[in-house]
Amino acid sequence: MDIQGLSAIVTGGASGLGEATARRLAKSGARVTIFDMNAERGPKVAADIGGHFENVDVSSADSVNDALEASAALHGDARILVNCAGIAIGEKTVGRDNVPHDLDRFKKVVEVNLIGSFNVIRLATARMAALDPLDTKERGVVVNTASVAAMEGQIGQVAYSASKGGIVGMTVPIARDLSGLGIRVCTIAPGLFLTPMMEGLPEEVQQSLGASVPFPSRLGDPDEYARLARHICENAMLNGEVIRLDGAIRMAPR
Ligand SMILES: NC(=O)c1ccc[n+]([C@@H]2O[C@H](COP(=O)([O-])OP(=O)(O)OC[C@H]3O[C@@H](n4cnc5c(N)ncnc54)[C@H](O)[C@@H]3O)[C@@H](O)[C@H]2O)c1
Repeated sequence: MDIQGLSAIVTGGASGLGEATARRLAKSGARVTIFDMNAERGPKVAADIGGHFENVDVSSADSVNDALEASAALHGDARILVNCAGIAIGEKTVGRDNVPHDLDRFKKVVEVNLIGSFNVIRLATARMAALDPLDTKERGVVVNTASVAAMEGQIGQVAYSASKGGIVGMTVPIARDLSGLGIRVCTIAPGLFLTPMMEGLPEEVQQSLGASVPFPSRLGDPDEYARLARHICENAMLNGEVIRLDGAIRMAPR
């Protein structure tokens, strides 16, 4: 798919991997709308890339529907959706003094990461389905963000890993569901990337996390994620696949 001039939605585009993707897609000629809850950074990034910002909670049907309507009015219905919005917590199944994992916190992570991704996919692709196919016969493409924690969740990552495992698990059935419509779906499973989340850690912790990556022994640059997301958009043969982007790291239990 030639992304020049196409309408694209990037959830979580106010920060980190989503921001890098919004910038990269805009540089490649896409008309980008950022869907994010960060109403401070989102509009700034959007202004910087000549794009548009919508204040969206990805886990709310109404919020996503309203934002799809508004972005379609400006840019046309999106042919590209990149799902980067996500949250992480650390909590063990059974914690100190035998206290069980808080169920509402578990539900919240699944609600934002897994249900939120699916919510935007179902609503955005229903609109994509009504677009004319391109000369490649494609109508659109979806890129999701899982994590290596879907495969090797660490101690305290049960909620996060469950949410990301769900994203891995739904990649093939969604690709199959949408194949008749010419809409592709892939998932990127990043390892350790230098986003605001990591930038908050002390320098020596960042160094030691980077050193734990076999090669290259450093944290990933968000633009490396963004370039893979762009490649997935461009390469019509990529579909139904989960791609690790992790410098060969395999996370240890802690
Ligand atoms: N940074 C890493 O090393 C890494 C590794 C593996 C996976 N990931 C995944 O990549 C994605 C992006 O991570 P990041 O490091 O860029 O994080 P980040 O915190 O920098 O960005 C996440 C963005 O999502 C937005 N967001 C959160 N909840 C939302 C909601 N309900 N609705 C709309 N927007 C919401 C936040 O406002 C934020 O702008 C996440 O799904 C994360 O789990 C990150």
